[in-house]
Amino acid sequence: MEKKQVVIIGAGISGLLACKYCLSKGFDPIVFESQADIGGVWVKTVKNTRLQSFKGSFQFSDFPWPSSVTEDYPTQPQLLDYLKSYAVHFDLMNHIQFNSVVKGIEYLGPSLQETCPHGKWKVTVENSQSTQVHDADFVILCVGRFKDFPNVPEFDHGSGPEVFGGKVIHSMEYAAMDHDRAEEFVKGKRVVVVGFQKQALDIAMECSSINGTENPCTVVYRNNRWKLPDFCPWGIPLSYLYFNRFSELLVHKPGEGFLLGLLASILSPLRWGISKLVETHIKRKIPLAKFDMVPKSSFSKDLRSGLLSAISEDFFNRVETGSILLKRSPGFKFYKDGILIDGEIKPTQTDIVILATGFKGIQKLQNIFVSQDFRNFIARSPNFRVPLYRECIPPRIPQVAIIGFSESVSNLFTSEMRCRWVVGLLDGKFKLPSIKEMEKDISNWDKYMKEYGGEYHLRSSIFGLDIWYNDQLCKDMGWNHRRKNGMWDELFEPYGPMDYPNP
Ligand SMILES: Cc1cc2nc3c(=O)[nH]c(=O)nc-3n(C[C@H](O)[C@H](O)[C@H](O)COP(=O)(O)OP(=O)(O)OC[C@H]3O[C@@H](n4cnc5c(N)ncnc54)[C@H](O)[C@@H]3O)c2cc1C
Ligand SMILES: NC(=O)c1ccc[n+]([C@@H]2O[C@H](COP(=O)([O-])OP(=O)(O)OC[C@H]3O[C@@H](n4cnc5c(N)ncnc54)[C@H](OP(=O)(O)O)[C@@H]3O)[C@@H](O)[C@H]2O)c1
Repeated sequence: MEKKQVVIIGAGISGLLACKYCLSKGFDPIVFESQADIGGVWVKTVKNTRLQSFKGSFQFSDFPWPSSVTEDYPTQPQLLDYLKSYAVHFDLMNHIQFNSVVKGIEYLGPSLQETCPHGKWKVTVENSQSTQVHDADFVILCVGRFKDFPNVPEFDHGSGPEVFGGKVIHSMEYAAMDHDRAEEFVKGKRVVVVGFQKQALDIAMECSSINGTENPCTVVYRNNRWKLPDFCPWGIPLSYLYFNRFSELLVHKPGEGFLLGLLASILSPLRWGISKLVETHIKRKIPLAKFDMVPKSSFSKDLRSGLLSAISEDFFNRVETGSILLKRSPGFKFYKDGILIDGEIKPTQTDIVILATGFKGIQKLQNIFVSQDFRNFIARSPNFRVPLYRECIPPRIPQVAIIGFSESVSNLFTSEMRCRWVVGLLDGKFKLPSIKEMEKDISNWDKYMKEYGGEYHLRSSIFGLDIWYNDQLCKDMGWNHRRKNGMWDELFEPYGPMDYPNP
């Protein structure tokens, strides 16, 4: 039987994995990548950016980090080298067309309700010479969610960047600069960074290294969040508290049975206790209380909703010594010479404002579909997360998979599991359930994400329920989902990519 023609969009980590697993099952995929190189978000980053996932959890199951990389949290160049050697080792480069932007994908085939769709996708690709249309039986979208589509705060007319005499850029533009150029851009300037997640922290650290106390970097942010100064609270690796089967028994899980539900309810005080344990460790290591920065939400909630960022202890040294100023406020306005922070009388004079305010990943994904129906399906309304069965398949869009859209403890690990599952599906190892069943499963996960992630459920984080999630993929693929030797290890040892070698 002739193999399906698979098109993969994006050659970041997810696209590379999708390509590798397609090849391993005899498909001949074409990968379209808009950049000139592989690596996605890792091609260009702020100079001091490194992996914030532990490298043991952020590695390919069949291609470990080389022994020359001794750091637990490798730097961006190390990560890029690792990705490149993976691509060379599995001979992926010949399948990638670089500088090729997919402008849209259009489905020509039977209606959405078909249970066994057999239409074709028309994939319109633009490069510097031409625009071409490629046919595909199946499209794997690996377009990422933290790139290309910046989230820019909105301002009333007359109080936005248009009235400001200085420069306003998004963190994406700052990260895209060569490192020398970025240094030159902020050197000797008064810089305001908006946002308080990882990108904002990296940029603020960089600005304070360059400008010191002479021109402190001001960080303006809305909400206090738990930050992790290390991954070993009170000497216990975080993975033993949140990423083993025992820790997953403490939370209600999507689609759980009566007994598991009962156990999670009985054990909920322990869940609370573990969260408090980590919180006391963090408060001991970084002076959150001193700066009135203790978050209202629990550590567990921030973790499960994907809101945790690693922070260097040096960050607060710099706050203490004055090269970083922190200002919490629900909002601010621009004026000619700077910004006026809500609740303050005196304006903050500044030369540059860097908006580290994240990305509109959902919109980016939506825009790739030509059909308005499919676009509506991806984003029903601002309050709905992208509905994906097994976080991969949009039930009402035929012959498409989306990889890399929901977050986890290690996005590489998660993307690898998903690519194996999607390729297993393509290879006929298992079938999808009905649309109704898929939607029921999605709605169970919605409930879980809303309960534990609150308003941040849109990030579709499976943090802290990684094993339960991977169990489902394994069962679908016909793998044994218990990967450890013995009951003790099964219950208490953390899980990682190396627990899932190819069968
Ligand atoms: C600075 C930074 C650091 C991070 N650190 C971590 C970390 O420590 N741990 C962790 O788990 N996660 C981390 N993340 C999350 C990160 O997004 C994932 O780790 C992972 O790299 C995502 O890979 P991806 O392939 O899914 O997406 P991306 O890396 O975004 O790749 C998507 C690719 O698709 C291409 N593309 C998009 N649209 C089109 C189109 N229309 N046509 C053709 N090509 C297209 C893009 O050019 C890009 O190359 C980090 C993210 C950022 C931004
Ligand atoms: N490995 C690394 O070192 C590294 C480096 C950079 C990025 N990353 C990863 O890349 C991803 C993206 O990170 P990111 O920091 O760019 O984005 P992000 O995690 O989405 O954070 C966005 C920040 O902007 C704030 N924000 C959003 N809209 C705002 C508005 N209208 N006004 C004011 N503030 C607003 C948010 O505040 P609220 O919290 O109040 O919503 C939050 O602090 C994350 O997964 C992150 O972990 C990793």
